[in-house]
Amino acid sequence: MSTETTAPAVQKKRILSCIQPSGIPTLGNYLGALKNWKKLADTFDGTFAVADLHAITVRQDPATFRKQINQVLALLLAIGLDPDESTIFIQSHVPAHAQLAWILNCYTQFGEMSRMTQFKDKSAAHADNVNVGLFAYPVLMAADILLYQADLVPVGADQKQHLEIARDIANRFNTIYSPTFTIPEPYIGKQGARVMSLQAPNKKMSKSDPNPKGYISVFDEPNVIVKKIKSAVTDCDGKVFYGEGKDGINNLMGIYSCCTGLDYDRIAHDFDGKGYGEFKAAVADAVVEELRPVRERFAQYIADKGYLEEVAAKGAARAARVADRTLMKVMKKVGFVLPK
Ligand code: TYM
Repeated sequence: MSTETTAPAVQKKRILSCIQPSGIPTLGNYLGALKNWKKLADTFDGTFAVADLHAITVRQDPATFRKQINQVLALLLAIGLDPDESTIFIQSHVPAHAQLAWILNCYTQFGEMSRMTQFKDKSAAHADNVNVGLFAYPVLMAADILLYQADLVPVGADQKQHLEIARDIANRFNTIYSPTFTIPEPYIGKQGARVMSLQAPNKKMSKSDPNPKGYISVFDEPNVIVKKIKSAVTDCDGKVFYGEGKDGINNLMGIYSCCTGLDYDRIAHDFDGKGYGEFKAAVADAVVEELRPVRERFAQYIADKGYLEEVAAKGAARAARVADRTLMKVMKKVGFVLPK
């Protein structure tokens, strides 16, 4: 008989995050979220989804929507996520998301949803289509997270309020019944959590900005990136340092810091006595080099439809195994008669 004992397997902590295929992702999505996904996926058990169900809260053109879903899937591979290590899938391929969202709707108060700032902003921006899905959006997001018992959710600062509501819903359910959901923590990077528009640096950089000069798309060619950064709004002070009233420069410093790993003091020191022109050229260079491998790998993945289908199918099957287990647990606690 062997006397050898095997140490119990240590369960890796779980991270989950999603991105909407509602346009071409921007440098904001990349620095605020995707770059951290890749970093964390190396040490955590990662689950990442293309949140297509969320995207239809705003009207989508079917052909463009289909194309964008595939593009975002290819992008997840292009940033370096490995489909053998992480679970990568398309949200609508796992029906448990919509099912749990419905159940959680019944444990969420109208008043709490009415306070969501993103709902207020988006309903103002799409006044002709303030649909119930847009209102209940954070509940679907809670379902995405809670189905996978995620410990950590890497997001940009704009998603913090949604994370708080997901925690509230989970705590409420756990209190009414018994511990069912892991309470997720947000992971918001120190830098890059809120990349601002290049044209209006008091507003978040967004893929739905009607002015393309305001954002850098992850697929922009180097010459386009250089042009956009050159024309970024700054101030007339002419000195590179992080400070009040310098939103444009602060934003460029944040972007540069994310791409180079240098802190603000070091950046201010390196550009002491140099003008904004020189600084902008350095920022543009750093962004071009940061996005170059992503753009190149993306071109390979998007051309291989068969491989993308394979990744999506394998990811959905893997995701569904975890998600269905949580859903059944929830249904049992609520008192549903479970399917045999
Ligand atoms: P979405 O698709 O708008 O954005 C994807 C991720 O990018 C981050 N982000 C930014 N970060 C820094 N600066 C910016 N300018 C910027 N713009 C966007 C977002 O914070 C996000 O992390 N509701 C989510 C998608 C979602 C989700 C989830 C996220 C659906 N289910 C479950 C986490 C967990 C959204 O609309 O992200």
